[in-house]
Amino acid sequence: MIRPDEHTADQTSDLPLVKSRVKLWGGRFDEPTDAFVEAFTASVGFDQRLFREDIAGSTAHAKMLAHVGVLTNEECDKILHGLNTILLDIERGDFAWVVAYEDVHMNIEARLIDRIGDVGKKLHTGRSRNDQVATDVRLYLRGAIDRMIQALNRLRGALVDLAEREADTVMPGFTHLQVAQPISFGHHLLAWYEMLTRDAERLADVRRRVNILPLGSAALAGTSYPLDRDYVAQLLGFEGVSRNSLDAVSDRDFAIEFLSATALIMMHLSRMSEELILWTSAQFGFIDLPDRFCTGSSIMPQKKNPDVPELVRGKTGRVYGDLFALLTLMKGQPLAYNKDNQEDKEPLFDAIDTVMGSLRAFGDMIPALQPNRERMRAAAKQGFSTATDLADYLVRQGVPFRDAHEIVGKAVRHAQTAGCDLSELPLAELQNFSPKISEDIFAVLTLEGSMAARNITGGTAPAQVHAQVIAARKTLVKT
Ligand code: ARG
Repeated sequence: MIRPDEHTADQTSDLPLVKSRVKLWGGRFDEPTDAFVEAFTASVGFDQRLFREDIAGSTAHAKMLAHVGVLTNEECDKILHGLNTILLDIERGDFAWVVAYEDVHMNIEARLIDRIGDVGKKLHTGRSRNDQVATDVRLYLRGAIDRMIQALNRLRGALVDLAEREADTVMPGFTHLQVAQPISFGHHLLAWYEMLTRDAERLADVRRRVNILPLGSAALAGTSYPLDRDYVAQLLGFEGVSRNSLDAVSDRDFAIEFLSATALIMMHLSRMSEELILWTSAQFGFIDLPDRFCTGSSIMPQKKNPDVPELVRGKTGRVYGDLFALLTLMKGQPLAYNKDNQEDKEPLFDAIDTVMGSLRAFGDMIPALQPNRERMRAAAKQGFSTATDLADYLVRQGVPFRDAHEIVGKAVRHAQTAGCDLSELPLAELQNFSPKISEDIFAVLTLEGSMAARNITGGTAPAQVHAQVIAARKTLVKT
């Protein structure tokens, strides 16, 4: 099988652009294209990034044309050889992209004809750039999805490792950014893990709809040649062929779905960033980021800024913008292909680069987080974080929950006036609020006791965190 999508990195080539050549479609035109229009309508500046997919698609198309007898084997071999030398030239940086040839597709085809002569003119039989570009973009996205899932899994693995190490670390859990209840830092990290797990699942789901072959739809109506579309699908690793040619050349739902999935990834990374930024501040002091992920200030010598999470939070906006660009691009288009669709590529590439960069940065940074366990513990002790545990204790002694809530509320107010935590009130004073309270309350009111008590599936007890770590590792091995 041809694997066109095995890129080592996303890159936009900086190979030279050459102006002005004879058009492949020039037959019915009386005058040359206006120079500005030529540059304005060209996409080769950015779609050259699809060269591997374009050559893989052409290779499969040529093999199929020979398979069904439209090309002789000898013609096919010449074309395949020509395409392969072009691939090597581009990879070597030895290929001049020509603006007048408009896009990656016609640049490669024109070069093929230059190189192997008239037989090269047969490659485009039964094909249009409309089904060609749709095929290329799907192949490219398929590869991007696979690389993105790998990057997500790397980060998920790092979170699981850290969660295991920090299962017993107590920190305050917040609601409304007010201290709520003591939680395990490991539990917090596994909440992030869950977000990213859904992201990976979503990408895998989008991949199923990306991995459908449009080639064979030709310009819009299909083709009169007896093409074997299933054969092409098999060569390119597609799971099926499109069922409607009009839809296949114009559909960009798969790209919008992909961008929705990337927007969600960035939303999650942005929420994580926000917490990291808060936690590294002097006010929280929960964690320290190694210097290599931070920068200083040009004026304030004492500063160490969490630039990486800040930038990831900022980049989230770009990816939302990419999603909206594509939704808006599609909303007014009549069937079938329109030139508008050329505008799909830059937002896609931008989202891929942004998400891959952000995942890389997070994957490097998370294992290097240095938690300040004493600060977290001290913060968890503030704000009467074990008040619910006192109420639950009273319920176990037979007090209805609403009454228990009321009793604890009064005890909290008293402790507040006394300037101490509930656990620091003498037993006699606690008993003024309810005679059901006895000596064993002090074990209940510790941070560790509170945390360990929430030993329910999905709860914050360290025992649960360890169980989730084991389950997560099993899932990661399968993916
Ligand atoms: N560069 C074009 C694109 O990206 C390729 C398809 C052009 N098709 C056409 N009929 N002009 O969409």
